[in-house]
Amino acid sequence: MEYFIKDINLADEGKRKILWAGKEMPVLDILKQTQAKNLFSGTTIGACLHVTSETANLVIALSECGANVFLTASNPLSTQDEVAASLVKNYNIPVFAKKGENESEYNHNIRIIAEKKPHIIIDDGADLIAYMHQNYSLAENILGATEETTTGITRIKSLEKDKKLTFPVIAVNDAMTKHLFDNRYGTGQSTIDGILRATNILIAGKIIVVCGYGWCGKGISKNFRGLGAKVIVVEVDPIKALEAVMDGFYVMKIEKAAETGDIFVTSTGDRDVISADVLTKIKDGAIIANSGHFNVEIDVDYLEKNAKEKNHIKPMVIEYVLKNNKKVYLLAEGRLVNLGCAEGHPSSVMDLSFSNQFMASKYLKENKGLQSKLYSVPEEIDRKIAELKLKSLNIEIDTLTEKQKEYLSSWEL
Ligand SMILES: NC(=O)c1ccc[n+]([C@@H]2O[C@H](COP(=O)([O-])OP(=O)(O)OC[C@H]3O[C@@H](n4cnc5c(N)ncnc54)[C@H](O)[C@@H]3O)[C@@H](O)[C@H]2O)c1
Repeated sequence: MEYFIKDINLADEGKRKILWAGKEMPVLDILKQTQAKNLFSGTTIGACLHVTSETANLVIALSECGANVFLTASNPLSTQDEVAASLVKNYNIPVFAKKGENESEYNHNIRIIAEKKPHIIIDDGADLIAYMHQNYSLAENILGATEETTTGITRIKSLEKDKKLTFPVIAVNDAMTKHLFDNRYGTGQSTIDGILRATNILIAGKIIVVCGYGWCGKGISKNFRGLGAKVIVVEVDPIKALEAVMDGFYVMKIEKAAETGDIFVTSTGDRDVISADVLTKIKDGAIIANSGHFNVEIDVDYLEKNAKEKNHIKPMVIEYVLKNNKKVYLLAEGRLVNLGCAEGHPSSVMDLSFSNQFMASKYLKENKGLQSKLYSVPEEIDRKIAELKLKSLNIEIDTLTEKQKEYLSSWEL
């Protein structure tokens, strides 16, 4: 079989991890079990996702329902090599990814997936979708794509605005059962997990600067506070900034926060948030990490070109000694810290995200002739996933009586 992975001998370890993650993904399992086994037969799915044990459960589910799946990574650092090996060896799913691949290998692997001329694309960050738009002859079979993350949706909205979007895309990130849980609780926990695994630093009493108070930033801030940190939020949106104030966080400009923070975390989807200017003002010994999709939030280029010294302290921790003799510690090369230094989101939360991916792919397969625009995940899918998750947690909720329904839909006193 054609593949590009680090070491096939890691497959047994990978299989154990895939099964372990699967135990926490009951909704995806129920959805898979209740679909026809030939749901995706004759369908080639090109997936560009973080190659983790949770992603493995998604691609296995698609493959067991008849799809011909090809998987590549959506980040050069996020591949779990043992999972990639197991997918190839134990599940016969071709994977083109290894942890630490360089930019040219990363791009080459995306090209390989595009050249399979997929019917459906499952993307995280829109690199594969963008590649298909630059090489449109490869899109001859395409029914549509699904997009996993906020930054990918931003890129697709730009394509749509420029009237260049050439196939339908379903905004999985915008489903309630995705961003309310994955971005907030998943990123909130796994970002801290990454920082702790890389540094083993005590959080209690530290001053943490969280840049961006969107869904991810809210989760990161709340969890740091739960560990006893003092949290400063940096925002550009006045409403989000006000929300952070009322949630009990300090809010200030990055230049001011730079002087006091012990640990800086970006999660904005924007570039140059920790800019060269901020880096020159930053407190001596500061730890800097990014949890936004692309490695553009911290000006790593400035550090690379201007530091007097660069020392590899331990895996994924680099010390830069700046010209002003201050030291800063960069985690995961400025790439997603939760995937570079830890294992990404907990499986239970990815159960929700990937159930949306599974059902959105089914929707594309069954609804040919959609327009070339960005679609929401249908509300009934979102609600069904929430209901199944509650059921799997053995939680029952109330239902409206007929009288209550009538009351809630009437305007008369
Ligand atoms: N680490 C992960 O596993 C993971 C998971 C989900 C999403 N993401 C990524 O994290 C990023 C944020 O996602 P989100 O869902 O929280 O987005 P969001 O749109 O909900 O929030 C982003 C926030 O950042 C703010 N912001 C933008 N530029 C800023 C700047 N220069 N300084 C300070 N604040 C700024 C915006 O005003 C907004 O409130 C995206 O890149 C997304 O793709 C990462």
